[in-house]
Amino acid sequence: MTNNVIISTNIAQTLTDTIEHIAHDKLFLLADQTTYEQCFPVVKHLSCLRHAQPIVIGATDACKTLDTLAQVWKAMSDGGATRHTLLVNLGGGMVTDLGGFAASTFKRGVKYVNIPTTLLSMVDASVGGKTGINFNGLKNEIGVFNAPETVIIDTEFLRTLDHDNILSGYAEMLKHGLISNESIFTQLLRFDVDHVDYKTLGEMVGTSVAVKERIVEEDPLEHGIRKALNLGHTAGHAFESWALTRKPVLHGYAVAWGLICELYLSCVQTGFPMEKMRQVVHFVKENYGLLPITCNDYDELYGYMTHDKKNTADTINFTLLGSIGNILINQTARKEEIFQMLDFYREGV
Ligand code: GLY
Repeated sequence: MTNNVIISTNIAQTLTDTIEHIAHDKLFLLADQTTYEQCFPVVKHLSCLRHAQPIVIGATDACKTLDTLAQVWKAMSDGGATRHTLLVNLGGGMVTDLGGFAASTFKRGVKYVNIPTTLLSMVDASVGGKTGINFNGLKNEIGVFNAPETVIIDTEFLRTLDHDNILSGYAEMLKHGLISNESIFTQLLRFDVDHVDYKTLGEMVGTSVAVKERIVEEDPLEHGIRKALNLGHTAGHAFESWALTRKPVLHGYAVAWGLICELYLSCVQTGFPMEKMRQVVHFVKENYGLLPITCNDYDELYGYMTHDKKNTADTINFTLLGSIGNILINQTARKEEIFQMLDFYREGV
């Protein structure tokens, strides 16, 4: 499974070259209502997309369903797609995950290209070949690993994002900083997310996505080191599921809160420096606030952790850190340790 990621400053040329180099008969372009209105106009005029058949689906994670997937399959089938058809996904993580899965399953698999338009999908979702949909109330419950032919990142699309979506993607960048090295980590904590310098952010996207690419190349199917990318996600997914039945939150917010929890566990279990953890806690609280859980929510949150794909019935698995860049996969915590972690999350340092 290869990941060909191109950071482009000329999307017209990059997309044209990419489409010309992938042999195909028909071409489909998948977007959601938002990216169809805000991002498609940037590429619509290109002659390489002259014959592309657009498929437009609802925006937001609530649309990442079997019904939407069937809508995409049907549009491809009605549009005469064959095994040699190419699908271009233009959008955030919902579009690239669902579109990647549609492409991976249609006629046993057609090629696809991702053009991520959100920060979260640029640095994480569009890269690495995890595709899928939500099912039965569970996120990404159904899916396959299957990498896109190419990922084209044009950081100009970041200008279309609101502050919450910048912060959502930024949490995954923080995670990449924590699992890589001090200099990336320090730059991330110093960056002013309230007054975004898009040129610097664009450069930081390149650094961040390279962290993910290296890990995915080494372990595409998540047998080992790819689990590093799950830092913050065991607790994060539990927060996200908890919020889903109350007031849904963006994925990256849940990851930011999950990082507080899992860096705390790293401090108490694997010797992560307290001072670094405090810096992250401060950054997260300052920018993301906190999800208002109480101790009455602990059992429910623990229940979500036991449902996570990474866990067996009675052990909760975490990726922890010994220090920045020192990744320790397959760590476990008992229920009482997880409750202490949640106490720390609520009450702070
Ligand atoms: N988002 C984590 C991964 O791609 O493995």
